[in-house]
Amino acid sequence: MSINGKTRVCAIIGDPVEHSLSPVMHNAAFQKLGLNLVYVAFKVTKDGLKDAISGARSLGLRGLNVTMPHKNAVIYYLDEVDSTAKTIGAVNTILNNQEKLVGYNTDGKGAMIALQENGISTEEKKMLLLGAGGAAKAIAFQAAQEVEELVIVNRTSEKAEQLAKMLGKNFGNKVNGRKLSDEVLKQELETTDILVNATSVGMHPSVNSSPVPSDLLHSDLCVMDIIYNPLETKLAKDAKAVGAKVVSGLDMLLYQGAVAFEIWTNCPAPVDVMKKAALDKLAEQGDIH
Ligand code: ATR
Repeated sequence: MSINGKTRVCAIIGDPVEHSLSPVMHNAAFQKLGLNLVYVAFKVTKDGLKDAISGARSLGLRGLNVTMPHKNAVIYYLDEVDSTAKTIGAVNTILNNQEKLVGYNTDGKGAMIALQENGISTEEKKMLLLGAGGAAKAIAFQAAQEVEELVIVNRTSEKAEQLAKMLGKNFGNKVNGRKLSDEVLKQELETTDILVNATSVGMHPSVNSSPVPSDLLHSDLCVMDIIYNPLETKLAKDAKAVGAKVVSGLDMLLYQGAVAFEIWTNCPAPVDVMKKAALDKLAEQGDIH
């Protein structure tokens, strides 16, 4: 690809961003489709966020991905925020649409597409979601519109209960919030079809931790861990060992990126190319700590 006077820029902003897989994923996709776009990573501290957004505006960037620690705060600097991102209170994708900055959140959709693409239907299913932080909230918002029953369990029970209350109000279906404990997991897992880990338990360097005791897992479960560092978490290994179906966190990353790509380009994302680029990068780094 040759960069010229008409090349538009997309970027990820966050702190840290050096190990982000988004640049390789999106650049591979831009190249594959012959789009005159380039994707870079900008380290932006909390204090620098306001200036970064006004810089993106004045430089005419086409789009941004937003990661930690800016997903919530960035909302204040945008012209419009779509209803999903507004309800969740977090933006991970921005489109510069004729100088108007519009915020979206593609995390929930990314997670649901990852399940679908792995042959897991959410219809009439019970989902047990671990965690009530930013990522969990985005997934819960999307899942509550699709599954028959959603149970959110979190170490801090108030967060799970609040989230369940908010979703129950919005979608009126069966959403419950409970405190994370082995006893609650045991009760809930017996009747769960899809288990999603959206806590940080099991993330590098705590690769030998899992949020779920292995003896509670069973072969009728589909398990998605949104952690992709390591690529296969202890939870994913334990789930595989009992014969459960497992979806990798890399797939959620891939599909949230694919949805963002489509927002910026109006073109279907070449997901195979994006996945290969991400896997190659991981292999090159050996790991991504
Ligand atoms: P993210 O934006 O990636 O979702 P976050 O908002 O910090 O990150 O959320 C992290 C999630 O992991 C939370 O649900 C957190 O539980 P609390 O709300 O109780 O803090 C959960 N989490 C982190 N460490 C945990 C641990 N050791 N055991 C159980 N849950 C944990």
